[in-house]
Amino acid sequence: MAVLVTGGAGYIGSHTCVELLEAGMDVVVVDNFCNSKPEALRRVEEITGKALVTCDLDIRDREGLRKVFASHQIDAVIHFAGLKAVGESSQMPLAYYDNNVSGTVALAEVMAEFACFKIVFSSSATVYGPDAPVPYIETLATGPCNVYGRTKHMVEDILRDACGIPESQWQVSLLRYFNPIGAHESGKIGEDPQGIPNNLMPYIAQVAVGKLKSLNVFGDDYPTVDGTGVRDYIHVVDLAKGHVQAVRKLDKPDPGCNIYNLGAGRGYSVLEVVKAFEQASGITIPYEIAPRRAGDLAEFYADASLAKDELDWEAELTIERMVADTWRWQSNNPKGYE
Ligand code: NAD
Ligand code: WQD
Repeated sequence: MAVLVTGGAGYIGSHTCVELLEAGMDVVVVDNFCNSKPEALRRVEEITGKALVTCDLDIRDREGLRKVFASHQIDAVIHFAGLKAVGESSQMPLAYYDNNVSGTVALAEVMAEFACFKIVFSSSATVYGPDAPVPYIETLATGPCNVYGRTKHMVEDILRDACGIPESQWQVSLLRYFNPIGAHESGKIGEDPQGIPNNLMPYIAQVAVGKLKSLNVFGDDYPTVDGTGVRDYIHVVDLAKGHVQAVRKLDKPDPGCNIYNLGAGRGYSVLEVVKAFEQASGITIPYEIAPRRAGDLAEFYADASLAKDELDWEAELTIERMVADTWRWQSNNPKGYE
């Protein structure tokens, strides 16, 4: 089976390429490297001892995509390529709609031209919106409250609609990720954000290696276990394995659209994550309590039982493994892939 992985050089994509190659699948990556480095793919090959095909290409380039499909027999697509920063998305909404929504339309059109109708899409828990009760379950009403979340919601609608046309052959798996952290246990690949990280785990890791001085904990007065925000952290390798299962499931002959939460099903607070990281690394993380960050929710976590029942997948790796693997990656590569 040959899988086209858009955004395969990115954080989740690179870990997924490892798992696909180790599962014996052929991998073709399309990435324009706007938020990643080719070195990540070289390291994927080093970890697995297997080669993959790399195409330096923007998914909005239909002609380029046609050449990729014409020169490789692609059975399914895992579609990671997109912009993902919530704050940035409200500053540059058109760029987000163009990249995430128009990019997906271009990809799906070219797929259909080449009679490739199987796609696994990176959606997000963000689509549930601020009023959803926890745990989030796939049948809840959605209502994202930021531009990034709306791009994910629109793509979900577009792919679901493609499944709804008469005699549609589309087989779609919409995966709603919770908070991916961690790194491959080799310490060779991991999250390598540009500039100052927006997300908690890479921020903590950069404080630990001395790149940043101190963590700002955004709010300590939420109605949670210790007042700090609670999230469902999932090890990126577990998440990658979820994609292998989703793509295998598409190998069955039933067309249609399925939605799965990929989370661990339990939450940890900001201070619990800090403490776990300190224990794994032996380094004290200085932090200050700062005002709440606009748009943040107190607490959310997944009901991931549907993925367990239908994909035969569940998150296995503990918070201790998540922080230990993050630390191995960051301490081996204090400057990321550079
Ligand atoms: P990432 O930025 O590390 O990876 C995205 C990759 O896509 C990068 O390699 C980037 O260069 C590439 N890319 C972006 N636009 C492209 C385009 N137009 N053409 C070709 N390549 C392009 O992000 P990630 O954390 O690996 O996330 C992967 C996907 O999962 C994204 O769609 C993201 O929105 C989604 N997601 C991420 C998280 C998270 O917390 N990391 C959570 C939920 C969903
Ligand atoms: C986690 C917790 C913060 C940074 C985001 C996106 C979401 C998804 C995953 C793509 C919160 C607190 C954070 C810091 C802090 N991405 N925090 N200090 O906001 O749950 O989710 O990434 O789909 O769409 O919104 O993740 O890691 O930013 O925050 O105290 O410097 O850590 O307030 O409680 P979030 P996060």
